[in-house]
Order: sequence, then structure tokens, then C-alpha cells
Amino acid sequence: MPDDRSLEQVDPEIYQTLRDERSRQNNGLELIASENFVSGAVMEATGSVLTNKYAEGYPGRRYYGGCEVVDIAERLAMERALELFGAEHVNVQPHSGTQANMAVYFAVLRPGDKLMGMDLSCGGHLTHGHPLSYSGRDFEVVPYGVDRETETLDYDEIGKIAREHRPKLIVCGASAYSRTIDFERFRAIADEVGALLMADIAHIAGLVAADEHPSPIPHCHFVTTTTHKTLRGPRGGLIFFTEEHAKILNRSLFPGIQGGPLMHVIAAKAVAFKEALGDGFKAYQRQIRANASRLASALADRGYRIVSGGTDNHVFLMDVAASGLTGKVAEKALDRAAITVNKNTIPYDTNPPLVASGIRIGTPALTTRGMKEPEMERVAELIVEVLEDPESEERSRQVRAKVKELSSGFPLY
Ligand SMILES: Cc1ncc(COP(=O)(O)O)c(C=O)c1O
Repeated sequence: MPDDRSLEQVDPEIYQTLRDERSRQNNGLELIASENFVSGAVMEATGSVLTNKYAEGYPGRRYYGGCEVVDIAERLAMERALELFGAEHVNVQPHSGTQANMAVYFAVLRPGDKLMGMDLSCGGHLTHGHPLSYSGRDFEVVPYGVDRETETLDYDEIGKIAREHRPKLIVCGASAYSRTIDFERFRAIADEVGALLMADIAHIAGLVAADEHPSPIPHCHFVTTTTHKTLRGPRGGLIFFTEEHAKILNRSLFPGIQGGPLMHVIAAKAVAFKEALGDGFKAYQRQIRANASRLASALADRGYRIVSGGTDNHVFLMDVAASGLTGKVAEKALDRAAITVNKNTIPYDTNPPLVASGIRIGTPALTTRGMKEPEMERVAELIVEVLEDPESEERSRQVRAKVKELSSGFPLY
């Protein structure tokens, strides 16, 4: 008989951390661009009995018995993901975005092959070739960035770099880039140099699913994503691909780099895809963009410089160095006021990453709470109030009370 005492009884310390975190999420303003709040249904599936099941392999071809039930969950996740993104094949098993990317690289690259990706300092992700990640250690990395003046992707320059280095795989997609990505243009560049093309849409997946950003699916050999950002599912990854690469990709993920899939998370992914296919998701994604745009312009109106002048999606970078601060100081001051952002380098930053000249701000989580344009004006006021006197504990305390008042009008959990 399993121990059926409650978490509170078994482990009061962890029980308390869960309570504290729930209260932090309820009472603060979550502006981290890569975070979101899942629905009760997604949460329920994530915390379910499916966590008990081993299911190495794929539906109908498992290495364990007793998989007939979890096969249904994985098949539902696959069917819904394909419908949502209009793709040919999908693998729903990646434990994370990092592992989704690794599965693609290990499927088509050999150690030492050339991988071209966006530089972290210009908005790319660690897994796009940073030296501290497997991607930068195992492959020869050819980085590209953004134009110094416009702070946007310069496709002529990217084409030039690709022609010079002839990479085997080009990665497009970003963690801190606020403008629309032209996947068709990337494909033309890849074709010209004989490269494969992978889009990592970890950040913009929800926008893509709702037609609020052009889809990479028709233009890319592989599309990877996380499921927990704009898509609003449980933590995890996904990979889309065509028939041509189906066998090598699936093998690359399992048994190549992962063992047993997290069936509870896969079931929760299925739930999130159902929610994304349902009423309201398109309007939600539209609102995320409208909120980001309003928040960026409200901060610009109050004298702050927004990298590239604004945003087309859910995220933007604010150059706090232009206002005499650093990202580190701004993040800390806002944190004290329960406004959560992350420090972030801006293109061609002269500060190191742990200091940084910018902060990254995103609107998916506040939009999930039901906040709209008028609240974005208020959030901008509160941010500015803190940043005008970032060293003042008193100021942070005052703003913290206002943050609590604002968030209490938009109950969460
Ligand atoms: C563009 C991009 N790719 C991949 C990842 C990695 O995802 P995970 O943290 O699930 O490994 C992230 C996460 O922030 C990301 O922004």
C-alpha cells in the first residue's frame, strides 16, 4: 500500500516552499518572457499517475509492457500538435528545448561539423552554439548577429556569412529578439549554400500556432520548440520534421539522447494543445502582442530606449544603460518590488552578461492573468517608479504594495 499521507504531512519543508511559490506567483508581476502560468487541467495531468510509467520507445513500439494506456496519451499529443502547427511529423518526447535541439544536431551533424546560429549576445540561445553549451563544444560554430544600427537581423549579411563558411546546419530563432523572423529568407540562404535549416521557435510557438507570427513549418527541415512559454503548456520540448528525416530524428532522440519519456508531461502537452486548438487561444495570443507593444511604447514614452525601437511579438529589450543603470541593478530593484524581469545583454553590449545593459520584458504571463492595455500603462508606471530610485528600499516597498493591489484584481491560483 503506497503511503497516501499528504505532502504537508510527509514533507512540511517542501510543502511550505510550494505555498510560498504560489503566493509569490499570485502577488507579483511576472514579466519574464519565457514564463507562463498553466491551466488547472495542465497542472492536473502533470501531477498524475502517468509519472509512474516507463514507456521507452514510441506508441505501438515500446520496450515495456503495459503501455496501452500511455500510448493513447502520446498519440493524442502527436495528433493535436500536428493539427495545431500543420506539420507532417512530430516527436513529443523531448524533456526540454535544449534536448529538442540536441536531438536535431545529433541527427544531422557529426563532431566538428559547422553549425551556424544566432549569437547569444545578440538574442540567440545557449544551444545555438555558445561555447559553454554542448552546441558550441562539439561543433564548429559560425555565429551571426544583428545589424548595429537597426538592431534587427540583416539577411544580406547572414547570406554573406553562410556563403563564406558553408555550414551544414543553419539555426534561426531566438530567446531575446522582438522582431518578426523571415523564415522564407533563411531557407533561400540555406538552399544557396546546401545547408539544412532548423527553426527554434521556443519563444514564439504560441504566436505561430495562432497565426500571430509567420510559420516556419513550410520552410524548415526541422522546427523545435519548448511547450512552456507562449504555448502555455508544461515544461518540455517538441520537434517537427518531414518524412525524409523521420527515422534519423526519432532515433536520435530515443535511444540517442533520452531514455524513458515523461508520460505525465506528454499527457499535459496533449491538454495544452487541446486548449490551444480551442476558442480563445487566438485572441489570447493577439492580446500578448498588443500588451507587449503597449508596454514597450509606454516605457519609451517615459524616456526609456527600447532595442530596435519596439516589438512585433511578446518580448522586448529595454536598454537601461542608456538611462544610467545596469541590467543587474534594474533586475534587483524590480525584484524587491515583486516585478520579475531578467537582466539581458543588448546587441553589442559593453557590459558582461552577469551585469548586462538591458532587461528583457515579456507579456505572456500577465496576459494569462487577464491584463490588457490599461494595465500595461500601469505596469510601465510601476517599473519607472522603481527605476527612478533603484537603490531605495523604501521606494521598492511602496511599489511592492501597489503591485500586490494590481495583481489581486487578476487572481491566479
Ligand atoms: C530559443 C530557445 N531555445 C531553447 C531553449 C531551451 O529550453 P529549455 O530551457 O526547456 O531547455 C530556450 C529557453 O529559454 C530558448 O529560449
